[in-house]
Amino acid sequence: MTMNIFDRIEELRIVPVVKLDRAEDAINLCGALLKGGLPVAEITFRTDAAEEAIRLASEAFPDMLIGAGTVVNTDQAKHAVAAGAKFIVTPGFSEAVTKWAVGNNIPVFPGTSTPTEIMMAMEYGIKVVKFFPAAQYGGLKTLKALAAPYPSMRFMPTGGINADNLHEYLAFDKIIACGGSWMVKDSLIHEGRFDEIERLTAEAVALAKIKREA
Ligand code: 3PG
Repeated sequence: MTMNIFDRIEELRIVPVVKLDRAEDAINLCGALLKGGLPVAEITFRTDAAEEAIRLASEAFPDMLIGAGTVVNTDQAKHAVAAGAKFIVTPGFSEAVTKWAVGNNIPVFPGTSTPTEIMMAMEYGIKVVKFFPAAQYGGLKTLKALAAPYPSMRFMPTGGINADNLHEYLAFDKIIACGGSWMVKDSLIHEGRFDEIERLTAEAVALAKIKREA
């Protein structure tokens, strides 16, 4: 992949946040995302299957952008990257993970929800942070206030984003993309409803094609 990963994520505008109990589900899941028009997945370390799921997905879909989410320590980050993860997302700000990722040229989205955390991320040269949990912390209104003092900082909000509010977030030009699990819900994966995942993904892709605010 020659394109900068941040640019690629900005082009895609949505990052599906995936939780897999069975690593092998990564194949059908990523197949559904691809067919729905979204060649990106953040596979979270919320389960023990994450590392193997990242490996299987990266091998089966080499052109897809597979990253690791909910990374809470450097050990997970190292395993994720060794398994094929192309980017790292952390739920909160971890100095250790951020330092390791930056030092190893791995794109990282440190989780932030306060000005202090954003400033800590800036000390590592971070240009894009995750804002989590977005809706629960006041949504777009809070994000706009949080973004104001840092004109060059950009955001990937996640938490409570769905087909109903996606367009509001994406209309704010400080947001490169929104993360979310609404098209890859646990229940759909457990029930093997990959056609529905494909449908919700295609719907999300269509919703993301909106004009940005000037
Ligand atoms: C995350 O880990 O980024 C979030 O849990 C995703 O939030 P959502 O499940 O509310 O979309």
